[in-house]
Amino acid sequence: MECTFIIIKPDAVQRGLIGEIVARFERRGLKIVGMKFMQVSEELARKHYAVHEGKPFFNGLIQYIISAPVVAMVLEGTNAITAARNTIGATKPSEAAPGSIRADLGLEIGRNLVHGSDGPDTAASEIALWFGEDLVNWGRATDAWIFE
Ligand code: RTP
Ligand code: MG
Repeated sequence: MECTFIIIKPDAVQRGLIGEIVARFERRGLKIVGMKFMQVSEELARKHYAVHEGKPFFNGLIQYIISAPVVAMVLEGTNAITAARNTIGATKPSEAAPGSIRADLGLEIGRNLVHGSDGPDTAASEIALWFGEDLVNWGRATDAWIFE
């Protein structure tokens, strides 16, 4: 089944929204197979956002991600990448669909609370970069009631 990589960003952690955000993914049926609370190094942040290197917002983005701890997660489920992106909402919170995390909890693009992988190749490389093999393969008691 598909896996996606999620970051609960520093603004969400500082605002006490870890539980609120994890709960939304859990309620949706996505299964946590990796999770860690961590301070991100500049080296890791630069690797993670390498695709944006050279863009005007790049330095601000790196400073934001390393400014305070984050929660990194790997979520598993049917179409997990698209499902998580929809639960997160559009990049600009002011334009995100109501009901999404960014619309309900945020206002600005540079404080948009959560990261989610944008495709299968990105998900695979981000999971490898942040977790390596350190994932938990487990049977959840509710799996048969969520996955057909
Ligand atoms: P993310 O990677 O964090 O999940 O966000 P995303 O796919 O929705 O957006 P992406 O284009 O990958 O941009 C990564 C992060 O960079 C910041 N950003 N700022 N000021 C700007 O124009 C701008 N554009 C992007 C945002 O924090 C965005 O989440
Ligand atoms: Mg992105």
